[in-house]
Amino acid sequence: MRKKIVAGNWKMHKNAEQTEDLLNDLIAKIPTDTAATVIVAPTFINLASAVEHLQFTNIEVAAQNVHQAESGAFTGEISADMLKSVGVDIVILGHSERRAIFNETDALIANKVGTALEHDMTVIFCFGEELKDRQSKNHFNIVENQLRDGLFQIEAKDWEKVILAYEPVWAIGTGETASPEQAQEMHEFIRETVRKNYGNDIAENVSILYGGSVKPENAKEIFSKPDVDGGLIGGAALKADDFVAIVNAI
Ligand code: PGA
Repeated sequence: MRKKIVAGNWKMHKNAEQTEDLLNDLIAKIPTDTAATVIVAPTFINLASAVEHLQFTNIEVAAQNVHQAESGAFTGEISADMLKSVGVDIVILGHSERRAIFNETDALIANKVGTALEHDMTVIFCFGEELKDRQSKNHFNIVENQLRDGLFQIEAKDWEKVILAYEPVWAIGTGETASPEQAQEMHEFIRETVRKNYGNDIAENVSILYGGSVKPENAKEIFSKPDVDGGLIGGAALKADDFVAIVNAI
């Protein structure tokens, strides 16, 4: 049975004190017997304290990025070894903001995926089409290419460490959500694409999250679709009550 996962991508929000406050709220409010694997991704500078804070809880911590190199003269960057050394085993890669604002290409993302997997980290691999791609009915092609060029270089054994996050760019931070039917249609296509390339077992076992304006009001309906295994949550992950409601919608 594949895992149900709700992950909160905090982006560049919350200073040290605010991070601690939100984590305390989540610890208090997320049921200890939740059916979901719950992950939070604070900013780099608050990761170590988040790991410490969440030590005896069922909430896991992810980084929002990692550099592809082991170490070196890369001012401002963070390596996989550094993340692991403070207890972070999960990393979000390929987010549309990294692709669009920081010019991350499929090839670079593939490189980062390789580095993260070599360090035995779990990768939350994000991908999704832009509005113009959907309007020109090119969205399936775009998604297939992102998977092929950014992820499908990995070996079959690596899939245990991969979570997919389909995030249509037009739905991120816009308030506009893909309809549950649109999400299901794409998730089914994604699972089929994984099946064609890696076989049935891997396709059935990989969790595919939906991301893009998931809120307490729409989470239940989206999560009820058979190929949607949870969500990657941005804005609504910054408010404890909203995030907890989304976790509970699983
Ligand atoms: P959003 O962001 O929930 O604010 O749309 C999702 C994401 O960027 O992962």
